[in-house]
Parts: sequence; structure tokens; C-alpha cells
Amino acid sequence: MNKTLRYGLILTAIITGINLVFYSIAFAINLFLVENITTRIILIVFPAILSGGLIAYFIVSSSPIFREYLTTFRRLLRLESLSHPLMVRFSHEAPGTYHHTLTVANISSRAAKTINADSLLTRVGAYYHDIGKIVQPDFFVENQSSSQNIHDQIENPEESAQIIINHVTNGVEIAKENHLPQEVINFIQQHHGTSTVSYFYEKSKQDSQKTKKADFKYPGPKPQSAEIAIVMLADTLEAAVRSESDPTLTDIREIVNQAIEQKTNEGQLDNAALSAKQISKLRRSFIESLNAIFHQRIQYPKENTK
Ligand SMILES: [Fe+2]
Ligand SMILES: [Fe+2]
Repeated sequence: MNKTLRYGLILTAIITGINLVFYSIAFAINLFLVENITTRIILIVFPAILSGGLIAYFIVSSSPIFREYLTTFRRLLRLESLSHPLMVRFSHEAPGTYHHTLTVANISSRAAKTINADSLLTRVGAYYHDIGKIVQPDFFVENQSSSQNIHDQIENPEESAQIIINHVTNGVEIAKENHLPQEVINFIQQHHGTSTVSYFYEKSKQDSQKTKKADFKYPGPKPQSAEIAIVMLADTLEAAVRSESDPTLTDIREIVNQAIEQKTNEGQLDNAALSAKQISKLRRSFIESLNAIFHQRIQYPKENTK
């Protein structure tokens, strides 16, 4: 349930409660103190009309909130389906990224639940966060099947970085073309915040002294909600843990701690309104999820066929 709806429901409940208290007081006065029949009728009918009017007013005035919530909820449910045409296209055109996306969505929605954030929105946002990679899928490591990296054919690291960064702007365009709601577009736009494509930045620094960090940064903005910050963290963590061979629980813990520290120090989580307690809950959830997905499997002995 989103925050606006939660506040709307709480406000309506409070107003209805206050209304009922006043009506009960009027009824009690009527019952014990008033003897005149006309005054009695007025004291029953007038508060009844007033309370009915007040409740009707609050239902009418808060109905756009409910209507908007239900519309968004229905749209999110449609987008959550993996048989949505855009998700099917995603799975065909960038299968590696699609697989990464499903893992990020599972890790993120579980983490969102631990801090009472909107887990449906988090899951849907995670599904579409990298949709822009379908424009040039081969430039992203998760879609490269051979040992040959296509970036090796590009001499200028700045150009490589720009291709990587473009998946954000391409994603926003694709999302708009497919009429995705702004709540989901925000995940595409903000999931890298203003971070740096560090691999190509470091590579460029080695080759030239004129390297400008600004040329290797994502345009941002930084995540503006807890839900988007969760996807940012889960995205970084999934890629980092996946790149390790046979990560242990200790390795996973270290990766999670380092990633959270790095994003916090860079200020990427500044606008996400996450408290220290919530970050600690997210940390625990990420470690549990990643450990369940990537932990070392027990090696069963092969059956002796001789
Ligand atoms: Fe991305
Ligand atoms: Fe991603």
C-alpha cells in the first residue's frame, strides 16, 4: 500500500471516529437530559445529517486518491506479468540482462518488505530498470557469451562509457514509447544515480591525463525514494556477487557492507529517506537473499559408473 493511500485511509478513519464520538455525545445528552420531544428530534436528526454529510464529504474528497491508487495498482499488476510484451521482448533481445533483472527483482522486493516499503512497485521497477540495454545488448557483460569483449574493439574508453551510460536514456525512451507509468520510469532514470562508470574511467586515466570524471558519470538524479535506492543497491550487489566464483557467506557479507558504505559515502542514498535502522534491515535482507542464491553448493560425489 503506498503512502498517500495509507494517509488517506488513516485520515478518513480519524474523521469518521471523531464524527461518531460527537454523535454519541449528542445522543447521550438527548437520552438523559432532554425531555422536550421537539428538542429530542432535533438532537437526533441534526447530528445524523451532519455526520452523514461530513462522511460523504470525506469520501468524495478522498476518492481521487483511492481511484489513483487503484489505477496505479492495476497498471503495476499488468507490468508485473512476465508475459507483458516488453518483458518478452527483453527476454529475447537481452537474455543475460533479463536474467539479472529477475534476480534483482527478487532480492529487491524481499528487502522492500522488511522496511514496509512498496514491494510491488520495487519489483516492477526492478523488472524494467535495465530495459534500455535492449538497444545495444552485446556491450553489456551479462549478454556476452564468448570470451571476446566487444569493447576491446573500441579504442576510446570514453566512448565505451557513453554506450554504457546510454542504457539509462534509451530505457527512459523505450518506457515512454510503451506507456510505462512515471513511477516505473523513475527507476530507469535513477537506478545508477550520479555514479561513475569506474572501469572505463580508470582505464582512461591510465591512457591519458586529460580524463574528466564528469564524462564517465551517469546523468542522475540520485534515487528519490527508498524503493529506487533498494534497486540501486540490489543491482550493484547482484553484479558484484555474480562476478565472484563460489562466494562464501563471509565474501557476500563483505561485498554487501562495502557496497552500502560506498553508496552512502558517495551520497547516492541522500534523497532516499532511509534511516540507519532501515539500512541495517536492508543489509541483513540482502545478505540472506544473496547467500540463498549464490552460496557454495555442496559438491556431491559423482556416481561411479565403472
Ligand atoms: Fe543499469
Ligand atoms: Fe542492472
